Amino acid sequence: MSAVAESFLRITGLRRLTGEVTVNGAKNAALPCLAAALLSDEPSRLTRVPDIEDVRRLIDILTFVGVDSEFAGGEVFISHTRECGGAPPDELAAALRASFLIMGPLLARTGQASCGAPGGDVIGARPLDVHLAGFRALGAQIETVGGRTIARAPRGLCGATIVLDYPSVLGTENLLLAAVLAEGRTQIVNAAMEPEITCLADMLNGMGARISNAGQHTITIDGVERLSGAEHELIPDRIETGTLLISAAATRGDVCLRGVHPEHNEALLAKLAEIGVDVRLGPNQLDIRVDADAALYATNVQALPFPGFATDLQAPITALLTQVQGTSIVHERVFENRMQHLDELRKFGANIIAGGAAPVIIGPTPFSGAMVRGSDIRGTAALIVAALAAAGESRIYGVEHLARGYADLPGQLRALGADIEQLPGLDTLSP
Ligand code: UD1
Repeated sequence: MSAVAESFLRITGLRRLTGEVTVNGAKNAALPCLAAALLSDEPSRLTRVPDIEDVRRLIDILTFVGVDSEFAGGEVFISHTRECGGAPPDELAAALRASFLIMGPLLARTGQASCGAPGGDVIGARPLDVHLAGFRALGAQIETVGGRTIARAPRGLCGATIVLDYPSVLGTENLLLAAVLAEGRTQIVNAAMEPEITCLADMLNGMGARISNAGQHTITIDGVERLSGAEHELIPDRIETGTLLISAAATRGDVCLRGVHPEHNEALLAKLAEIGVDVRLGPNQLDIRVDADAALYATNVQALPFPGFATDLQAPITALLTQVQGTSIVHERVFENRMQHLDELRKFGANIIAGGAAPVIIGPTPFSGAMVRGSDIRGTAALIVAALAAAGESRIYGVEHLARGYADLPGQLRALGADIEQLPGLDTLSP
């Protein structure tokens, strides 16, 4: 415990969530689509952009390398691209993992790109070998100097067949962003299939790129000489969607989410139905309603690349499974160090047997309010789920992690009846 002054979330739990709320655009689609602005000198407009810290930081990074933009009212207007090139300061690159997405487009457009070591959540080793092997296959030379990656392709990039060692999401996106301007045909084999990849490919095709089969194992890209600007709406955030659905279930609530794509959350919806939540899709397939009034039972979950259960929802569903009848195992198979939330969940009263990447959760355990600290975006969201299910008042620190990835999760939960507010820092004890 140390004396600090920092803001925190105060939550009084055991309020049943009810009502409806609209979901924001996807964080993980906004980032690659913003990076795509580097590929053209014409104006572009992105809509349904979530107002989150990672988006603001990437906009700052893009300003350093030649993209002028304005962000207001959920829209980013990219007015024009100056001569692009150079590199952002290393501290900015280190602020988020997606800073590395400037590499593909800068390399393709200018023949040279450079970026300091990217940051982001500390949830595992997070190497860059998939990105770098792909750039090399397209003809680039790579060197790493003092943690900074420098890629050069003075004679331009040349299409190639690239077999990814792992279907990395940002790796696939970086290679797509490079290959659209490479000469000839590129095939990305063992590509990530996340919906955010398809969203990026749709934007690039709107700019004149020739990409087919995005969202499948093998993506084909026929390079073009130049790209125009684009108007592009981002897909709804499936992780925000999932966090809200899990929060509803943890309070035995009855909640409808509007403007979502249920097919992006199939693995979660199947698990919710399996544990006893009544899941219904609206007639237009753009709404999901969950009603968790009945008894809920344990299940096992494996976090996997899409279309498997999303690793970003692993921590939130673990919080929910502490509140259901029986023994569950949650197996994290994407990141090797994504379990920091477990000790904090135990402070609410969770009975979790450590099991490396596959902890065992024995439920239900009645929760009482606790003072806890989140250490990454989704782990902090899991602590909110726990506090919503806990009797009495909780305080959650580490809200800066939440602000990186959720536009207004506390506001959305409040609209559904949660007693939650963000309070300014008090000169007091925090965990
Ligand atoms: C993206 C998402 C993140 C999500 C993750 C997995 C963004 C901005 N972030 O992160 O929210 O949790 O996908 O769905 O979109 N790996 C390698 N070599 C590489 C790259 C990755 O071995 O070159 C490994 C990683 O260590 C990890 C696994 O691949 O074990 C998944 O990482 P990856 O798909 O690259 O995640 P990100 O794209 O960083």
